[in-house]
Amino acid sequence: MAKIAIIGAGSVGATAAYALIASGLGEEIVLIDVNRAKAEGEALDLGDSTAFTTPVKIYAGDYSDVGNADLIIFAAGANQRPGETRLDLTQRNVAVLKEVAGKLAVHWRGGILLMVTNPVDVLTYVASRLLDLDPRRVLGTGTILDSARFRYALSQYTGVDARNLHAYVIGEHGDTAVLLWSRATVAGIPLEDFCQQRGLKPPDKEQIDQYVRQAAYRIIERKGATYYAIGLGIRRLCEAILKNQHSVLTVTGPVEGTYGYEGVAFSLPTVVGREGRLFTLELPLSSREEEELRRSVDTLLKAQAEVGF
Ligand code: 2OP
Repeated sequence: MAKIAIIGAGSVGATAAYALIASGLGEEIVLIDVNRAKAEGEALDLGDSTAFTTPVKIYAGDYSDVGNADLIIFAAGANQRPGETRLDLTQRNVAVLKEVAGKLAVHWRGGILLMVTNPVDVLTYVASRLLDLDPRRVLGTGTILDSARFRYALSQYTGVDARNLHAYVIGEHGDTAVLLWSRATVAGIPLEDFCQQRGLKPPDKEQIDQYVRQAAYRIIERKGATYYAIGLGIRRLCEAILKNQHSVLTVTGPVEGTYGYEGVAFSLPTVVGREGRLFTLELPLSSREEEELRRSVDTLLKAQAEVGF
C-alpha cells in the first residue's frame, strides 16, 4: 500500500482524494495547501467518509510529511477563469511550481510525480527539469480527459460502451489538442466501417471535435471549474501506477524521440505502471494529424520558451 501526497487541496486535489478514498487506493494520504485551514477541513471531511470505505489515514500536513511519499500529485496553483486559456496560466503556475519544487528537493526522497495543474504539459516539462527524477517517473494527466471526452462523445454516437472504444487525443492538453480520428476503433473495427455496418451516417467530426475541445470552457462558464472527471482520471492513473497495471493512457511527459520530437512534453498513448511512463506508442498518423501535432508541439515549445525552458 502506498503513501500519497496531494499538493493543492482545491476542488481538483480534494476531488482526487475523494475518488482515491472511494476506491481504496492509498494507505496514507496527506493534503498540503497554502491555505492550511482548507486542507484541514477537507481532510476532516474525507476522514469521516473512510468509515464507509476502507481505512485510510488522511490528514493535512506540510512538506516535512512528503519524505516517504510514493506518489505526489501536484494540483496547486490558479485555475482558468471564464474566457482564459490554459496557457494564460503559464507564468503564474510555473512560479508556484518553482516554489514547491524547491521544497520537494529538500524533503522528498523521490517516487512518482503526477502533475495535474495547467498548463499541464508545460508544468510537467518544467518539473522534469527542476527535479532530479528519472523522466519516466514524471508524468502529467495531459489529454487523459480529452481522450475520455472523445470516447464519451463517440459512445453516445455509436451506442457502444466507451470502454470498448479506442480513441485517443494526443498533443497539448489545450486548444491545440489532436483528435486521432484515423485511429478510432469500436472493438477493433475502424469507426467508419462500424458506422457502415450499423447503417449510421459517418459522425459529424466537426461537432465532436468542438465538444471535446470546448468541454472545459463550457463547464467553467457554468460552474467555475472542472473537477469530477479529472478527479476520476487521477484516480485511474494512480490505480495504473500503484497496481502496476501497464495500462495505455494518454499522459504527458518529456518526449524522447516519438514522431521525431524531444525537449518538450505532450501527451501520447503511454503504457503506465509502477515506474511511471514505461513506454509510449507511436500510432500511424494521417497527414492532417501530423500537421495538427506539429502545430500543437510548436505552441508548447513557444510556451516553454516564454518561461525560460
Ligand atoms: C479540463 O480540461 C480545465 O484542464 C481542465 O477540464
